[in-house]
Amino acid sequence: MPKLIIDDIPVEVPPGTSVLEAARSVGITIPHFCYHPALAIAAACRLCAVKLLDGPVKGIQMSCSLPAQDGMVVSTTDPEALKMRSLVIEWLMLNHPHDCPVCDEGGECLLQDFTIAGGHSRRRYQGKKRTFQNQYLGERIHHEMNRCIECYRCARFYQEYAGGTDFGVTGSAGRVYFGRFAEGALESPFSGNLVDICPTGVFTDKTGRFRARYWDYRFSPAVCQHCSVGCNTSPQNFQRELIKIVARRNDQVNGWFICDRGRYDKEYLNGPQRPRDPEVDGAPCDYRNALESAANRISEFCLQNGAASLAFLGSGRLSLEGCLVLSELARVIGAQACYFAEAGPAQGSLAAVRLLNEENAARVRDIEKAECITLFELDLMEEGAMLALSVRKASLAGAQVFRVGGAREGETHPLPFRYQEVATLDEVPFEGGSKGVVICGAGGKSPELLSYLASSGAKLVMLQPAANGFGASLVALERGAATLSDLVESGQVKAVACFEAEPPPWLLERVEVLACADWKLGATAKKASVFLPTTTWIESDGTSINYEGRAQRFLSSRPAGLPLKGLDSKYYSSETEAVSLHPPRVHRNEIPGGAEREAWRVMADLILELGGEPVNEPLTGSWGKLRDLDPEGEGVRIYDLLSTQDLS
Ligand code: SF4
Ligand code: SF4
Ligand code: FES
Repeated sequence: MPKLIIDDIPVEVPPGTSVLEAARSVGITIPHFCYHPALAIAAACRLCAVKLLDGPVKGIQMSCSLPAQDGMVVSTTDPEALKMRSLVIEWLMLNHPHDCPVCDEGGECLLQDFTIAGGHSRRRYQGKKRTFQNQYLGERIHHEMNRCIECYRCARFYQEYAGGTDFGVTGSAGRVYFGRFAEGALESPFSGNLVDICPTGVFTDKTGRFRARYWDYRFSPAVCQHCSVGCNTSPQNFQRELIKIVARRNDQVNGWFICDRGRYDKEYLNGPQRPRDPEVDGAPCDYRNALESAANRISEFCLQNGAASLAFLGSGRLSLEGCLVLSELARVIGAQACYFAEAGPAQGSLAAVRLLNEENAARVRDIEKAECITLFELDLMEEGAMLALSVRKASLAGAQVFRVGGAREGETHPLPFRYQEVATLDEVPFEGGSKGVVICGAGGKSPELLSYLASSGAKLVMLQPAANGFGASLVALERGAATLSDLVESGQVKAVACFEAEPPPWLLERVEVLACADWKLGATAKKASVFLPTTTWIESDGTSINYEGRAQRFLSSRPAGLPLKGLDSKYYSSETEAVSLHPPRVHRNEIPGGAEREAWRVMADLILELGGEPVNEPLTGSWGKLRDLDPEGEGVRIYDLLSTQDLS
């Protein structure tokens, strides 16, 4: 392990660590643009200059590309290094448009930060600036090439990391250009990361431009709920409107990036189609009235038909808290609790959760280091897009990738790595041990397949049909829940109350829907006699367990209620005052649309109405260990916390 001294601080780092990273490890930030921990070194910007005072290398060096060596004595503040860095900034700013006040990146721009920190405040060069034509890159990303400082982060991410082929660098010398090779929108399903990774404002998020500055946003740690990978995000809200979603680093889950679905599938969360008001028999009312009506109808139904004829249906869309309180709600009146509408998906999810354990459940690192990866009956870009980047990493390092079952119907994005199609698992040369990984789609996990995989010795990824499918399955196993379709087909259940769950049409047809609590307006919400709106993960605190059994906490980043932007004229003092971007000037005590509650709180309120004990804390018993999870941490695999054997 090389030992060196940086700014008089002794540092010891693993071999291969750069001087820049060694400095970071003791809290010293060396200014940088082109360096990014997730990307290969380019040493393109020259901003990370430091002075080597003694040791095997001497003089001004680029710290990002210089491996730390024994005996080095490094100064990050030597006047010669400072001078070099200030000249680099001045040189980069020669052509930069100096348009921070009208740039959407302003306030969260690395170039702005290091320019100000480096003391550059006066433009000495009076010549003409170099200018470029911008490209249309699609409806999501705006291009402003004049702001480019040629750090190559975008090209390295897009091509090397994400496997995109339609975007990169062209030109030479003083006129290098970062853009598409042909007209049209960016094709990579990871292209939104260009916004995060560019250290200046070349790529800005068109879906949220000019709405607010960084310091205006309300944000907190969130976990993406669009698939069971559970990527870490930071939703940025302004005046109750979700403006942008950006990636949040978690090396155990998504590294530094997210897919475009996780970043851009947000319209529904703000949009007018989202149901905001409680309803009884289709008529809007307040939360209390709706709650009392739901409780009354549930009580009446149970009186007439017996409580066992009623099922409370949840799903993997519920947080872990929701799943736990659902079973408590059912217990209070003796009704059924179900976490799955249909037997097929239930069988696969439950069996997968039973099968996985600390040894065989693959981590992201296992995928990246695997030598043989098998994709079994899945559309990876749809069911777990970020894992495709892990498979790509392994493939670039020489792993063989096999695909069983071929392309799925409706696949829209090609996989960003080479693979060989095989007809059956028998054709895969399983080596077993830690070097083989099998990734299974959410469907098609038959008992035969699972026992075959269990004996293969490979590490397993079992994707779930919903973000918290693993959590819902764990609770179902722990509490012995049945599947709704079984209960309906056997004639046991005649009515349901659904919590963030959507039974398929054939099943919905066969039951009365006494109540529905959801943030989506689906067929169940439309059929329900009582509707109660719930908050999404953006407005909720909760816990979600991803495909590998990793529990992660997320926190609410905005209050419930309608965004101020576009508020209906009924909320303004007069219709003429109703302008789309200005908040109403009348004071109101209630937030419009603010009747939404976290699903578990709706259930807890129902429990009280139905005569049960108050539920103030949903994570109790062995689940209570999850309460202290750090939402900014890496999460924890439940195998360390709970005994899954006891659950089956
Ligand atoms: S566009 Fe941005 S990320 Fe790409 S080279 Fe220019 S400054 Fe760097
Ligand atoms: S891979 Fe899944 S969890 Fe991650 S950002 Fe994409 S949709 Fe969200
Ligand atoms: S960060 Fe080292 S040269 Fe750019």
